[in-house]
Amino acid sequence: MTARILDGKAIAAEIRAELGEQIEVFSQQTEVTPCLAAVLVGDDPASEVYVRSKRRTCEKLGMGSQLHQLPADATDDQLLALIAQLNADRAVHGILVQLPLPPQMNTQVVLDAVDAAKDVDAFHPHNVGLISQGRPRFLPCTPHGVCQILARSELPVSGRRVVILGRSEIVGKPLASMLVQKTSHLGSEYANATVTVCHSRTEDLAAISRQADVLVAAIGKASFVTAEMVQPGATVIDVGINRTENGLVGDVDFEGVKEVAGAITPVPGGVGPLTIAMVLTNTFTAARLAVQQSASA
Ligand code: GUN
Repeated sequence: MTARILDGKAIAAEIRAELGEQIEVFSQQTEVTPCLAAVLVGDDPASEVYVRSKRRTCEKLGMGSQLHQLPADATDDQLLALIAQLNADRAVHGILVQLPLPPQMNTQVVLDAVDAAKDVDAFHPHNVGLISQGRPRFLPCTPHGVCQILARSELPVSGRRVVILGRSEIVGKPLASMLVQKTSHLGSEYANATVTVCHSRTEDLAAISRQADVLVAAIGKASFVTAEMVQPGATVIDVGINRTENGLVGDVDFEGVKEVAGAITPVPGGVGPLTIAMVLTNTFTAARLAVQQSASA
């Protein structure tokens, strides 16, 4: 059996089209253009590619987009001053500080400084807490992208075993936090999972991953998940983006695993395009909330 390939590019295009229509109506009604400010420190080529892609997509959807760049030797104070300026700017609805930051910077202090109401990455402790309590303001972009792929492919997780490989603050932990909730904005079928999070200290990881009905790989190790680690018929979601001498590869050995899995996301063209679509969704949410708040003030 060869797995069904889950086309993230097509799903992201569908979401962008829906979002573009909503933004058009919103902008006509409110005369507000949702605007995302991206902050890029240094000259990491991969980060530059991501930021450029986010800005291009913003512009296509009728959103405003700003790019603020600081040199690689910038200090925390310089970045905090820029964030304070963006926090105070009423024309800016979403702020995205592209990670990783250069090593001299204190990432936690910087991320905590972003106004929680403009935190389109959902990294601020206030937003992380709201997600954990099942009343999110913003959903974290990559985990939300994973949920959108599952929902739009009609692969429910309620009552099923989801195994997440990786406990990062960006993917593993927030995804686990979302999937154990009683419901989600995608419906209760896309919540209520039995979630296991595996990491570098997990013993006999393959025995656990083989129990997964849905296996999510987010560990940053090229082609780590092999066919023997996958239950026949399982859904495999590959969040990895690893640059190797063979080009861009995921955390899953795609060629081997697709012969065992029931459904699988490719790399590229799987989760990646969804992440960007979800940043824009959050920017639109931030703009709507800002308009609501100014109306009730
Ligand atoms: N770098 C890698 N992933 C992300 C992300 O989701 N958000 C930001 N801001 N930077 C990243």
